[in-house]
Amino acid sequence: MVGTGIEIRASDVTRMIEALASHGRIGSTGVGRLVYTDAWASAMELCREWAELAGLEVREDAVGNLWARLHGSQDGPVIATGSHIDSQCNGGRFDGALGVVGSILALDALRRQVGRPKRTLEAVVFCEEEGSRFAKAAFWGSRAVTGGIRPEDPDAILDSGGESIAEAMRANRLDPLGISTARRDDIGAFVELHIEQGPVCEAAGVPVAVVEAITGIAHFEVTLTGEQNHAGTCPMDLRRDPMAGFAEIASGLIDHAHRAGRPAVTTIGRCDQEPGGTAVVPHRVRFSIDARHPDPAARKEMLAVHERLILEVAGRRGLRAEIRRLIDHPPVRCDPGLVETLRLAADRCGLKAITMASGAGHDAQRMAGIAPAAMIFVRSKGGISHSPEENSSTEDCVAGIRVLAEALRLLAY
Ligand code: HGY
Ligand code: MN
Ligand code: MN
Repeated sequence: MVGTGIEIRASDVTRMIEALASHGRIGSTGVGRLVYTDAWASAMELCREWAELAGLEVREDAVGNLWARLHGSQDGPVIATGSHIDSQCNGGRFDGALGVVGSILALDALRRQVGRPKRTLEAVVFCEEEGSRFAKAAFWGSRAVTGGIRPEDPDAILDSGGESIAEAMRANRLDPLGISTARRDDIGAFVELHIEQGPVCEAAGVPVAVVEAITGIAHFEVTLTGEQNHAGTCPMDLRRDPMAGFAEIASGLIDHAHRAGRPAVTTIGRCDQEPGGTAVVPHRVRFSIDARHPDPAARKEMLAVHERLILEVAGRRGLRAEIRRLIDHPPVRCDPGLVETLRLAADRCGLKAITMASGAGHDAQRMAGIAPAAMIFVRSKGGISHSPEENSSTEDCVAGIRVLAEALRLLAY
């Protein structure tokens, strides 16, 4: 092990990552662990067991976040770390899971190797972040902690089968009426360990990075309604064809982000049409938009361009356009002082680290609303994520957890 710092056993990391991945496993390396499902509940139970074995005091809050506490000798704000337990529908075994496993291992190692901290340390397993079951519930766990859930949300937010998140909570013995009790106002700092999910660390040849900014994310659902008709007899110039509108809008949105250049990104990940007959001009096309930019002004301009394009194409093609905003999380800058602490921690572990912005959204950007927040990234092989191909080497995962443990030592001892 290079540098000083806390010892983390590689065998523990691989064992825990693989064990967690078995809850919602798809094929050999895919994971589908959606919030408030059986796989989610059994994964949460496994994390509870790990935290108790690590000698931490464990409790569940009103939305099902798991908090594992290592009491400090002094009063004062808590130093928290953690990430989310849920995954994309067919995602990978490191997204969220690395921060969950890493936070429990880091607190366990600190307790054994350094002893009782001055400041209380807490590892948090957030119940939901991805928005993969309830499209409008993304960051549900950290929004509960930071007061970002409105009273009407639990009954209004539905999954694709029409079940409300309130019903899904009750099915897991959680009371939606108690959500406000999950709010925390005693967090002094939040550090999230997460895979990078992109190509930057690999290109820089470093195992870890310190995150200084997190991109803003907006999700929309657009519905274009035209006139269903015969594919052979209806002349092109008389059609009100929502698929033609979708094709023009989709290429326009994606091309706009491409021409704007990095770090602007726009993704259309989902599209469906009605009725879906080969010889039928569709009646309706519905599609998703994921639009991101770390700069507030550039992001605002990009979203305005999107809206103008959608309405112009729909108007010209005689289509009705409905634009529903599903989520909107502004970009955040991480706390500069905490960023410096994380850089020092990497240095004390003898690790080369870069400082970068995150193109992915994270719970840390919600936690930044109530406490100084920053992140540690671990290199992603091939820069791939939100895919069963997502992978990080055990050596890099251990490096990231050691940096986390060293940062927590700097913050809490
Ligand atoms: O989409 C994201 O950036 C996050 O992984 N949910
Ligand atoms: Mn994630
Ligand atoms: Mn994700």
